[in-house]
Amino acid sequence: MAEETLSLVGPAFLKGEVTVSGSKNLALPLLATVPLFSSKFVFCNVPNILDVHIMLRTLSSMGIDFSWRGNTLELDCCKLRYIDLISPALSELRASFLFVASFLSRFGHAVIKKPGGDQIGDRPVDIHLEGLKSLGYEANFEGDVIRFRRVRQVSDAEFVLKYPSVGATEQLIIASVVGSGRKVFRNIATEPEVKHLISWLSSCGGKINLYPEQRVVEIESVSFLSAQQAFFVPGDRIEGITWLLAGLLCGNDEIVVKGVYYEDLDNVSGLFKSLGVQFQEDKIISKRLNGFANLNIVAEPYPGFPTDAQPMMAVLLSQGLGVGKIKDNVFPNRFAYLSELSKLGLQFEFKENTTIIVGPQKLTGNEVVARDIRAGIALVLAGLIASGTTSIKQVNHLRRGYELLETKLLSLGAKVLSDQSLEYVF
Ligand code: UD1
Repeated sequence: MAEETLSLVGPAFLKGEVTVSGSKNLALPLLATVPLFSSKFVFCNVPNILDVHIMLRTLSSMGIDFSWRGNTLELDCCKLRYIDLISPALSELRASFLFVASFLSRFGHAVIKKPGGDQIGDRPVDIHLEGLKSLGYEANFEGDVIRFRRVRQVSDAEFVLKYPSVGATEQLIIASVVGSGRKVFRNIATEPEVKHLISWLSSCGGKINLYPEQRVVEIESVSFLSAQQAFFVPGDRIEGITWLLAGLLCGNDEIVVKGVYYEDLDNVSGLFKSLGVQFQEDKIISKRLNGFANLNIVAEPYPGFPTDAQPMMAVLLSQGLGVGKIKDNVFPNRFAYLSELSKLGLQFEFKENTTIIVGPQKLTGNEVVARDIRAGIALVLAGLIASGTTSIKQVNHLRRGYELLETKLLSLGAKVLSDQSLEYVF
């Protein structure tokens, strides 16, 4: 089948209301916890996206039944069995590496393909491995496969992450929640997704105390987990930022964004409020911004500015007045998207790990390639402000994380068309 192309005709004049889908970066670790359970349970507001489907296919191959009702996902873990986690699709999806934690907890061993690097950098797993070692698990490499096994029965453990990695923090929490003894992890990631993962495990009987200010989590391992009630996946904060940026860039009238937890955006609300965005308990309101002084963005671990939103900020900076800067201290090489934006006419300089964009600039439609999900959505925003047609290839990256993208864009008044309509529909 020919590759899907998404075309946008700009400049767009948007208005209306949009509801963000459930968080991708929470849904994936939630699905990685499923092998910890032996019963049936329900997740609500699960985004119907490619990455979730890859995780579900894997759960299915380990004997877990699931069914969708709208965005509600019912899971039945009664027939869980061990499998080696080596299907090619899994190594493409980094979050699948979190199955190691639930497998080690449940079976004491796991075999998994090493996650690949990607457009945003090397993406090592050394912190995951060091942390799991402190819990008594040894990792052996055989080519591109890693074999984990329990070599020591560890009751109490303490481990300091050398960097607050989101994935490694989630890995260690999932690996520790069931068992015996007390585990303490320091210098952990405190992203909202980590907090929500802890809420889910706590609602199932997990005894987890998070001290976000100190970057510490303490876990009293429990003998089993039992899901008492359906867990609602909060709205995706990065999708929330996407739509508020769409408002700032082309909100002809107000764009009202619903479904994001207010607290999940507390680290960026100050910045966006200074650009006129209104944050209310149940909605965000954003409107076209003309003539703003350009910005200096530095992506850092939470509560810093989120790295996943920095590619989209390059599009906003192209419309600011004067010198704008972006630096990424989480993924310092996450700038490959700039060469695609330059095909739309974006001019930038790169000095000392910092991108410099002097605005305002005029963008013009062209053919571009979405090299990863966040690069792809930056191209969508750029396509909305560019004059003429922007055709985006490798749309599969957008399908990995954005549910009903064209439907939402169309509802706001954008002119957008996929030549294959590969949006997931129930
Ligand atoms: C998660 C998010 C991703 C986001 C990132 C940072 C999911 C599914 N993905 O990815 O969207 O961009 O957090 O907010 O939730 N590192 C190491 N060794 C390790 C692990 C990480 O050096 O063992 C480095 C990475 O190379 C990177 C930095 O730590 O430079 C941050 O990575 P990490 O926080 O682990 O990101 P992910 O969990 O992979």
